[in-house]
Parts: sequence; C-alpha cells; structure tokens
Amino acid sequence: MARDPSRSRPKRRARALWATGGPAWLAACEGPQSALSAGGSNAGAILELTLVLFIGGGVIFLAVMGLAGYAVFARPDRFPGTRAWIVGGGIVFPVVALTALQIHEFAVARRLAAQGSADMLRVEVTGRMWWWDVRYGDGPDAVRTANEIVIPAGRPVEFVVKAADVIHSFWVPSLAGKIDMIPGLDNRLVLVGEKPGVYRGQCAEYCGAQHALMAFDVIVEPPERFDAWLAAQRQPAAAPADPALTAGRDAFLKIGCGACHTVRGTPAAGVLGPDLTHVGGRRRLAAGTLPNGAEALAGWIVGAQHIKPDNRMPSFPILDGESLRAVAAWLESLT
Ligand code: CUA
Repeated sequence: MARDPSRSRPKRRARALWATGGPAWLAACEGPQSALSAGGSNAGAILELTLVLFIGGGVIFLAVMGLAGYAVFARPDRFPGTRAWIVGGGIVFPVVALTALQIHEFAVARRLAAQGSADMLRVEVTGRMWWWDVRYGDGPDAVRTANEIVIPAGRPVEFVVKAADVIHSFWVPSLAGKIDMIPGLDNRLVLVGEKPGVYRGQCAEYCGAQHALMAFDVIVEPPERFDAWLAAQRQPAAAPADPALTAGRDAFLKIGCGACHTVRGTPAAGVLGPDLTHVGGRRRLAAGTLPNGAEALAGWIVGAQHIKPDNRMPSFPILDGESLRAVAAWLESLT
C-alpha cells in the first residue's frame, strides 16, 4: 500500500503543534472582531500604534529588568557611573522616548482625523437598549435598517452616532477605534473599509442587562454591490406571493406589531423598534443574538423576554401556532 504523503514528519509535527495550541494562538488574532486583524486603514493605523507601544514597551521593560538584576547582584563598587545612569536612564531617556512616542501618536491621530472626502457616505447610527438603529440619507429616499450596516469598500464612511436612551459605544475593532454614543450629542467617526468581508461590532459601554447582547455586523461590499443593496433597501416590502404569506402579514398587522415596527408598503409605521421592511435579508436577529430564519423569528416573537430579558419587545405567547408560523414565514420572505 502506498504511503500517505500527508503523514510525513514535518506535517505530523505541524499537525501536533496545531492540535496543542495553534488554533488558540491564531484564534486570538484572526476573526471578524479583532483589533489585530485590520480590515481598513483606520484599524491599520491603530494596530501600528499598538505594536510600536507594545514592542517598544517590552524592549524597555526587559532592559530595565536586566539592569535591575545587574544592580542587585553586582557589587556596588563594580556598578560604574551611577550618576550617569540616574541622569541618563532616569531623566534623559524617558523624556526622549516619551516625546518621540507622543509625536508618533499625534501623527497617527492626525491621519485618523483627516480622512474624509466629497463622496463620503453618511450613515447615522443610534444606539438603543439594546440594538442599533441605522439610517442612510434623509427625506423620501432615506433607508432605515437595524443591527447590520453595509458599506462600500474603499470609500470613506462618516458614521454619525447618537444614543436614544443611555450611553452606548460603537466599536468595530477590525475597522476602527471605538466612539461613545451619548444622548443629546452627535459624535462622528470616519472610517474606510478596504477589504470586503463581514466585520462584527459590539457595544463597548455597559448599558444595562443586555449590554452583552448588543452586537452588529458591518458588511463591506464592492461599490457596485453596495449600490445594488441600497437600491433594493429603498424598495417597499414585497407583496406576499401566496395566501400563506398574506395570512402572515394580516396576523402581523392584527396583533399590533405595527405599533413599534415599520414595514414600508404596509400600514405598519411604528418607530420604537427595528424597521422590518427587509428583515428577512439580514444575517442575524435581535442585535446578533440569533441567526436569522423563520424558526428564530418565531422563537423571538413568542419568547423575546425569555431570550433577552428586559428588552423592549414583549413576548407574544398568545399567538396560536398557525398564525405564528405564518407571521414568521412572511417576515422571512421580506428580503
Ligand atoms: Cu449598549 Cu452596551
């Protein structure tokens, strides 16, 4: 029988390394929510600053420890130039090193602040307990969505962030630094997503019981796919394609979901909860809590308070099974 080439010694060794700790090491740096895996120039600049501080600090720490060890174990009369060490290492070196770092930090901060251009896309994101209300544009062309932000690759995006209730913090580690969302104040963050992909964001300021379940996705798309997405989002909800979906829409309106949710193209025009006009096209539900789909939608409708206690969406256990399935199927069809 031929020898399996994949069992050669280096491969075995690599596999053993992988099994013993490789994944853990790599998992710490990769993934959709890692400041160590930059998906754009802003996160890249912050990563560069982080590495300069980390490596520089590490080198200085080791040098100081080495000198301290030498001072402890060498005879005092053999430690030359004590005065020069104190003046040089205690005053001159910190002043020079910290000044250089400060200048470097200012340069990076300037680079981060200077971004922006005439064709910048403006996206307004409002933090609410505990989800993200996202708006593109104003007037009749405005698009409102939730917990998912699609942006074009390579084009600067200006996020104007607000808060509706308490302080939240908008953070997508792979794309940029964090910025607080403060009630009564509009904060601004400009970033560029260069690598198309899905990046995970998370609220970074404790904002109540479900702070941990307040995540979102930023999806960086090539410009033409972004334009197509935005054009599709501008459309009202698709008319139900069959009687079962029509029954779902009717049940949704009958039990009063429209008091909090908007579905453009239907009488539902509430503004307290997420806009559901294209909810079926989103990846996740309830701010990253559940993977989207008819089953998750049904589970969320009957058990919102069980899944995410104290959120503003009441559970609807009163709905009979048939109506529940119909509502969930209709919502899933709204892509
Ligand atoms: Cu919102 Cu923490």
